[in-house]
Amino acid sequence: MVLDESAVAGPTPVPAAGPGPVPGPVPGPVVEPVTEPVPEPVPEPVPEPAGAARAPLDAAGQDLLFRAARTSWGWTGTDVTDETLRALYDLLKMGPTSANSSPARFMFLRTSWAKERLRSALSEGNIEKTLAAPVVCIVAHDPKFYEELPRLYPGVDARGWFAGNEALAEATAFRNGTLQGGYLIMAARALGLDCGPMSGFDNDKVDREFLVAQGWRSNFLVALGHADHGKTPGRAPRLSFDEACRLL
Ligand SMILES: Cc1cc2nc3c(=O)[nH]c(=O)nc-3n(C[C@H](O)[C@H](O)[C@H](O)COP(=O)(O)O)c2cc1C
Repeated sequence: MVLDESAVAGPTPVPAAGPGPVPGPVPGPVVEPVTEPVPEPVPEPVPEPAGAARAPLDAAGQDLLFRAARTSWGWTGTDVTDETLRALYDLLKMGPTSANSSPARFMFLRTSWAKERLRSALSEGNIEKTLAAPVVCIVAHDPKFYEELPRLYPGVDARGWFAGNEALAEATAFRNGTLQGGYLIMAARALGLDCGPMSGFDNDKVDREFLVAQGWRSNFLVALGHADHGKTPGRAPRLSFDEACRLL
């Protein structure tokens, strides 16, 4: 089946960015935030004039999101408020998904009681660092995400692409739900939080314990908080451009 998203009139196209930034020297590591960042209301962005070059994120912003950001293995005592979790969702929801399907669902465990219910599903090596985090997010997806498509992708019968085709619906939910989990990690970093993503757990147990009522399926976990980098091991290498990329 061909999913023709082009059949729908989308919003006004945004001009492509100009030539990318030339990366400058990498400054020192970003200083750890000591207090919970207080999200402020952000005004609606003003649309750019046609042909305007978009300013790249500066080197400090790139550090915050990528170069200085580390997976967290330990946590300071700083809490994460529900307001921050709302700000986190308001950022990550803007990341693109196919047909705007937005299949990811997020279960935030913020109380000791809720986090304890995870214990028996976690791999041995993941228990301590997960339960010590201020918040653990179960990144899940709704297998019936397509029921929202008349609202999320109006103007075409996108629901009909998936209803009755369980394999296509699950592949679409998993692909886009995973992307949205990635957006969650980057949005959390943008808000000054640290993340400990984790797939070392029993998905079926987590689904039975937390997600039965909603009918959602777990994908992976993300522990959220402020990192205690005393527990972070040295950075492992990454593949070089020449190893991982081809130019055609
Ligand atoms: C989807 C996913 C699953 C992961 N699962 C685990 C896990 O079960 N246990 C663990 O200790 N680390 C886990 N990690 C952490 C990775 O090992 C870590 O992000 C990677 O080594 C890069 O570390 P860095 O961000 O500090 O460079 C996972 C990361 C991702 C993105």
